[in-house]
Amino acid sequence: MSEKEPIGVIGAGWVGLVTAACFAEVGHRVVVREIVPEKVESLRRGEVPIHEPQLPELISRNSERLLFTTEMDELLDGPRLIFVCVQTPPTYSGDADLSAVQRAVEEIGEPDGRALVMKSTVPVGTGRAIQREAPGLAYVSCPEFLKEGTAVKDFLEPDRVVIGAEADDEWAADAVEDLYRPLGAPVVRTDLSSAEMIKLASNAYLATKISFINEIANVCDEVGADVTEVARGMGLDPRIGSRFLNAGLGFGGSCFPKDTQALKILAGNSGYHFQLLNSVIEVNDLQKRRVMAKISKHLDSLVGKRVALLGLAFKPDTDDMREASSLVLAARLDGEGASVVAFDPVAQGPARALLPAVEMAGSAMEALEGADVAVLVTEWPEFAELDWADVAKRMSRPLLVDGRNFLDPVAVRDAGITYEAIGRPSAGDRSAVVRVAPGSEAEDADR
Ligand code: UDX
Repeated sequence: MSEKEPIGVIGAGWVGLVTAACFAEVGHRVVVREIVPEKVESLRRGEVPIHEPQLPELISRNSERLLFTTEMDELLDGPRLIFVCVQTPPTYSGDADLSAVQRAVEEIGEPDGRALVMKSTVPVGTGRAIQREAPGLAYVSCPEFLKEGTAVKDFLEPDRVVIGAEADDEWAADAVEDLYRPLGAPVVRTDLSSAEMIKLASNAYLATKISFINEIANVCDEVGADVTEVARGMGLDPRIGSRFLNAGLGFGGSCFPKDTQALKILAGNSGYHFQLLNSVIEVNDLQKRRVMAKISKHLDSLVGKRVALLGLAFKPDTDDMREASSLVLAARLDGEGASVVAFDPVAQGPARALLPAVEMAGSAMEALEGADVAVLVTEWPEFAELDWADVAKRMSRPLLVDGRNFLDPVAVRDAGITYEAIGRPSAGDRSAVVRVAPGSEAEDADR
């Protein structure tokens, strides 16, 4: 059997580590170059610095094929394909900060027969600019579509693989396609700028779907409909689809807020006002605060009140606190004079430095002890298993705002807890009238 193509990866962050570990898993030798020596040391010891399911197992299982180094020379020594997986955070202007990308390009130089494969999310036009700067280096855009928490599965079973290159670099695009072929996903071969735009447009579209359902939820609150029922009914139309229709406290994380902002700025810089995207972002900012209005329906003032936050991470199965709704919420609650206590199964470590005024509890029950209000911020499965009768006894005023429409409203309300959700004004209220269509299954069952 012929030896598999060796690969280089620059950056041992979340994307870089998942990319490296997964290519190692399918049999490639991978050299990972990371500039932070402590990170390299810990990875060599098999310690993975981020919380991502399956990643530690994959790294340890493939340790013989994974080389971690701080030295660029070791990387430039072998592989033809060098995946750039460095961070591109937003600057104060909202543009993407490309300094890490720039550094990687300079360090790679223009060695013969090598290709830079861009995994980092970059503004449209970045690839062409790099080509002008380093004409001797082949360049391929291959954006990542990984979700935190399921990144390994997303990598190994992708919905699609996007590969963008210009005509001169076809050989490099072919080589990248060969790498992904065993994964069996549809491959979209296109030009550089379109590949870059596919990534930004995909994230902007998903963010739009979330802001849309959040606005529907807000209207549901006013008119007495239940957004989860509405989403169920909408989602069965295949043109709409049922995924990404969960209303809640808005989107956070490392991608949607940054990429929507980057696309808005990119459009603006080119003279186009992207009106819809501006609204998507604004709706999301406001959504993170909606809990405040829910609480004030029941409490005149938050001064001196104790508020328990269940969950801090921007979503379950990650310890990532970037753009988490909990950050906005904790600051608003603090500003209103409440004392905030929180529990998150994995994000408390990273959260501590960001939320110095928040008391961290050892368990959900400990956080709920003596609380006047509880807010479910992150839908960790363990929160659905809480004993609500016990919760009602421990809280000093049993009021719960389910910021992710995650809990069983009947179970919570039956325990004597006042339940508020997002766009479900009478969820779990047994006195609410349920209208059943004649001849429907529910009506038959009632007979
Ligand atoms: C996202 C994209 O899904 C992924 O393709 C891209 O590569 C990176 O950005 P990620 O940020 O890991 O992935 O999280 P995702 O699961 O997509 O959720 C993003 C945010 O949207 C979370 O805050 C989540 O709570 C929120 N969300 C998601 C909703 O509020 N409602 C939904 O229906 C879905």
